[in-house]
Amino acid sequence: MEDFIFEVGTKILFGKDQLKNLAKEILKYGDRVLLCYGGGSIKRIGLYDQVVKILEDNNIFFKELSGIDPNPRYESADEGIKIARENDLNFVLAVGGGSTIDCSKLICAGIYEDSSSWDIVTGKVKPKKGLPLGTILTLSATGSEMDRGSVITNQATKQKLGWAAHFTLPKFSILNPEYTYSVPKKHTAAGTADIMSHTMENYFSLNDGVYLGDRMAEGLLKTCMKYGKIAYEDPENYEARANLMWSGTWAINGLIDAGKKTEWSVHAMEHELSAFNDLTHGYGLAILTPNWLKYCLSEKTVDKISEFAKNVLGVEEKEDKFEMAKEGIDKLSEFFASLGIPKTLSEVGFKEEDIAGLAKACIENHGGPIKGFIELDEKDVLEIYKLSL
Ligand code: NZQ
Ligand code: ZN
Repeated sequence: MEDFIFEVGTKILFGKDQLKNLAKEILKYGDRVLLCYGGGSIKRIGLYDQVVKILEDNNIFFKELSGIDPNPRYESADEGIKIARENDLNFVLAVGGGSTIDCSKLICAGIYEDSSSWDIVTGKVKPKKGLPLGTILTLSATGSEMDRGSVITNQATKQKLGWAAHFTLPKFSILNPEYTYSVPKKHTAAGTADIMSHTMENYFSLNDGVYLGDRMAEGLLKTCMKYGKIAYEDPENYEARANLMWSGTWAINGLIDAGKKTEWSVHAMEHELSAFNDLTHGYGLAILTPNWLKYCLSEKTVDKISEFAKNVLGVEEKEDKFEMAKEGIDKLSEFFASLGIPKTLSEVGFKEEDIAGLAKACIENHGGPIKGFIELDEKDVLEIYKLSL
């Protein structure tokens, strides 16, 4: 196990009756708020009205940034920064899914910088401080409610890049599983796949001695498989929505990978796909992951993949570990299909002629080979895209 520091200071307010604490939490940090949200789902579920009433009742001045797209664009952040500056705002409140939260993180970071917010995403500009952020989560998926990461798209250059800063960790996040009742089946499925992918990116590593982290990861994966299916079929099942929501937060907040060296392979490959045709992130991950695992399977990795097959997918112990591993990968693929997720990239609009360029861009944007579970260079990424077509 490698040395590590685990410090995740986000205060989580979890459950049905936590919105009552919103004003108190905001007022610890600011009193002039930029309220950020997406395309309107928070209005349809009545959350927008509740939040506005709380802000008004507590004399908290606010301005709005609406219309943040899935796969959020840096231009939305630039717009938010402008509104925040013009109105001397001192706190950002993100109400929505990962896209709204990620865009809000970029607004927090860009406020004291002169450049375009895209320069922060590419690392050309490195802000040292930013506005404080609070979130109200409405979709279980990214874990952005309790991590520093943010993933932003530049449509002109067809790039989708992750970045982070120490101050982008939310000060607080309100997690009410009931807000996720209205999440459509497609995004319930994609969110479940995303949580599972975060867990697997952390889980699949070799000989690191992090036994505890791996057992916790297996627990998260089993929870997602059990409750992802229930939430998909019975959207207003509180127990399912609650377990998914809490799993999403813990899959990526640094706990299960504490003591590990991880480099996320499937996310690096997926971000190219979303940047190319706006594919839903979780769909891309679910299509790529089984093919990535098949590509990784070798004498070196078979113990770990067969362990995963047995402990997570319930594959019976066999003498032939390769057989166990393959059975586990097939079961994983069937699970994603049971959530209505397409199995191939062709089904979501990709063609053979697209993928060579995507593999090249993937390695370029990653800054060289991906040193994950197995090391992947451009040729490997291309093979995995081909297997996924
Ligand atoms: O825009 P609105 O109207 O709110 O609708 C959204 C959007 O259409 C809808 N939605 C959200 N909550 C809802 C709801 N619809 C009905 N009822 C609700 N309660 O769902 C759609 C998708 O929302 P989005 O925020 O895009 O989804 P998600 O949370 O999956 O976020 C995806 C983005 O996060 C990035 C992804 O790459 C992608 O850009 N990621 C961020 C990470 C991080 N910050 O750590 C890590 C992840 O690996 C990921 O890359
Ligand atoms: Zn993800």
